[in-house]
Amino acid sequence: MPKKALPKDDFFNKMRELCIALTYDDVRLKTGRSRVVPDKVSTATRFSRNVMLKIPIVSAAMDTVTEYKLAIELAKLGGLGIIHRNLTPEEQAYHVARVKNHLNGLTGLIEKPICVREDDTLKDILYRKEKRQYPFDSFPVMDDKGRLVGILTGNDFGFWEEDSLGLIKVKQAMTTELRIAKQGTSLDHAYLLMKKMKKKHLPLVDDKGMLVGLYSFKDLKNIKSGKAAGYNLDKKGKLVVGAAIGVGEDAFERLKKLAAEHVDVVVIDTAHGDSEKVIETLKKIKKLYPKLDVVVGNVSEAESAERLMLAGADGVKVGQGPGAICTTRIIAGIGKPQVSAVYECSKIGDKYDVPICADGGLRFSGDITLAIGAGASSVMMGSLLAGTDEAPGDVVFKDGRSWKEFRGMGSLGAMEKSKAARERYGQTETGKSELIPEGVEALTPYKGALGLVVKQYVGGLKRGMGYVGAADIEELRAKADFIRLTNAGQSESHPHDVEILREAPNYSVGRR
Ligand code: XMP
Repeated sequence: MPKKALPKDDFFNKMRELCIALTYDDVRLKTGRSRVVPDKVSTATRFSRNVMLKIPIVSAAMDTVTEYKLAIELAKLGGLGIIHRNLTPEEQAYHVARVKNHLNGLTGLIEKPICVREDDTLKDILYRKEKRQYPFDSFPVMDDKGRLVGILTGNDFGFWEEDSLGLIKVKQAMTTELRIAKQGTSLDHAYLLMKKMKKKHLPLVDDKGMLVGLYSFKDLKNIKSGKAAGYNLDKKGKLVVGAAIGVGEDAFERLKKLAAEHVDVVVIDTAHGDSEKVIETLKKIKKLYPKLDVVVGNVSEAESAERLMLAGADGVKVGQGPGAICTTRIIAGIGKPQVSAVYECSKIGDKYDVPICADGGLRFSGDITLAIGAGASSVMMGSLLAGTDEAPGDVVFKDGRSWKEFRGMGSLGAMEKSKAARERYGQTETGKSELIPEGVEALTPYKGALGLVVKQYVGGLKRGMGYVGAADIEELRAKADFIRLTNAGQSESHPHDVEILREAPNYSVGRR
């Protein structure tokens, strides 16, 4: 951790003396002598004391951004999704479970596969699959003594008329030509067997013929091909996921359910982190769940960050009002431009070895480089990830373009819908007709697959690291040196005096 004076300290100290706080568009980083090849830099970092990231991108706990689909994809890209809390505790825990159960771990072995009975009907199975949202459609089949007698695959459903599914028993439809292997079969051996036999599933049985595990070829292929090397995984090889909680009793009800699903980190997600209830809740969680990382926010002043760190925060989220849909600074007249806020809080973070996450306000990939240069270890994004295929909500067509809904958690719509959103903005006691919104409801351009979008953001960061001469995130935090942009400097930085013919995947005039 860089604790000695850094090149950027002088710059920010001078700004502070003038009572000037700056944000992304106000600054750029100086370039330096570099031996760094952008494609070779390491983007590994931390979200909190113990929760690692392979890319420094965390998705916002917003109901138009992070549910299980986006959290799964982002963890596969090396980042982390924080499941929002405009859900009941049960629903939120379900989303966490979907992420944790998406992969079958480093060994590729499903230790307790979901099985069906031979006397169940196909309709029963489809109903269960729909209700529990199983992300797979193959099931080992058991007889009434619990012995393995077949396997029911997705294909086996397709050969029956829709209206006869309630009459067809699993034993009539299942595949009985079973290929099995002995308990203890290794991943490598199983992979070879399945490849040779062209089987997508390989059940493992013990001496008595009882099922003790299942290999799925898709999982093994991912592991063998090295595709899983970029995934952000926990120690058991499951995808990493976080969840937002509030304060008081609701937080503890959520925590119980989230911890049961092995959530990796919780975020006390409030508009004003430096408040009594947040600190009380944080201290209590650290007592009850000492092994669970707790990130707390949001704040924008160094003293606030220090109070949270002294109360036990494992990470602090910085950002009050910089977000694309936020109106807090305008409605309440408070807040601090994001780059200065991140810099000041990160000086405290370095003192206590607590990572800072720069939350909100990023508009281009270069802003990630700036946030980390200012001292953040990760960034949280809402608007830049909303509108992707994996974000909740449907694509709508308007004015000749495709869009998806994106709204602030303090918007009227979000607060009317959920007590958690009202609590985030300290308005649980306020009647619905008297709510004071601190965000807006909007549309964001449809962006397509998350994977392509995130690759552009990470690619931009890597380019920035190359220019600065930083081979990893810590080096970027240590080497970054800032200059102040004037309005002329800023307009020079964007394309100018031209008519853009083709929109680039990483630059949109609308974001300027
Ligand atoms: P971006 O700019 O990435 O910001 O979309 C996402 C962050 O904005 C915060 N957030 C809000 N802030 N009013 C606010 O003042 C709101 O309604 C609101 N909703 C979300 C939140 O910290 C998020 O991560």
